[in-house]
Amino acid sequence: MLLLGIESSCDETAAAVVCDGVEVLSNIVRSQADIHARYGGVVPEIASRAHTEAVAILTKAALSAAGVTMREIDGVAVTYAPGLIGALLIGVNFGKSLAYRYEKPLVPVHHIKGHIAAAYLGNKDLAPPFLAFVASGGHTSIIEVKSHTSFLQLGQTRDDAAGEAFDKIARTLDIPYPGGAQLEKLACMGDHTAFAIPNAKVSGRELDFSFSGIKTHVINQINTHRQKYGALSETVKADISASVTYNITNSITSKVKSALALTGHKTLVAAGGVMANNFIRRSLASLCNAENIRFICPEMKYCGDNAAMIASQGFFEYISGVRAGNELNAKATERVADIYL
Ligand code: KG4
Ligand code: ZN
Repeated sequence: MLLLGIESSCDETAAAVVCDGVEVLSNIVRSQADIHARYGGVVPEIASRAHTEAVAILTKAALSAAGVTMREIDGVAVTYAPGLIGALLIGVNFGKSLAYRYEKPLVPVHHIKGHIAAAYLGNKDLAPPFLAFVASGGHTSIIEVKSHTSFLQLGQTRDDAAGEAFDKIARTLDIPYPGGAQLEKLACMGDHTAFAIPNAKVSGRELDFSFSGIKTHVINQINTHRQKYGALSETVKADISASVTYNITNSITSKVKSALALTGHKTLVAAGGVMANNFIRRSLASLCNAENIRFICPEMKYCGDNAAMIASQGFFEYISGVRAGNELNAKATERVADIYL
């Protein structure tokens, strides 16, 4: 079964064709990062306009790269939530129009469920139940995946997402948007013991995260350092990057370790844009290795926003009977699942 996926929740426009939720026939992504870089972050209206320019062109390219026409597509899967509302509406309306024109079923896909589904691409034998850790620009969550379409949220961030902390600290270090990947490169050259960063404490639900305290602490340290010594040297920037990465990596690893112990799952999927970070990938991989747990992290190209993951989750939603009508709307916020109490 062939699903066309469409993704436009933030600053990547993407279209993909995926067979049976696991086999990627095409996956086209156009990032707007260079457009937003000059403003230091995503400008929602500019994102919507760029999606409008790109979505039809990319969809055509994805169909052509897969060697299929719209008539051969079995359904259209589109990200409807969560994300920037104007950006989401472009994909939703375009997907809806395609489904309407070609009389195809329309399948709404939650973006975070899509990030988890990225793990099915290239891992045909992976099947729920398993534990998932998802870290993106807007989310940091530990989720129990009970079936392809049934989820339970075990932990989430109380404030900022890990990606947000990386991006804001990167911006203070004068690293152009999006800063996460560049901050990782600097971290490779730094000393992670150089800057002491207190560990975030979260009272109550022990699987919840908090990153805003770390973010504010580090930004204050950078500003104080500038006031005292002037511009930061590359060595200091590298040391700060390494210290932040070390702190965030440890915080994620210890929460994921607790969640694995609590649930007894023997498979961990770690997904989302932040999982492009090799420090976090390696730390979770070695945790799983030590605890005899299967560790699956999507290929790098499926960690960041893409439409193959949307088509994959769309397939599983489709076979479980999920359909959207012509009234489908976008939602800026939408819980991935019920919260475990
Ligand atoms: O999933 P994603 O592509 O988009 C959202 O759904 O938000 O995640 C984007 C986030 C950004 O915060 C970006 O800085 C972060 O992922 N990111 C990284 C790395 N590559 C991307 N964070 C840390 N290290 C990286 N190598
Ligand atoms: Zn994402």
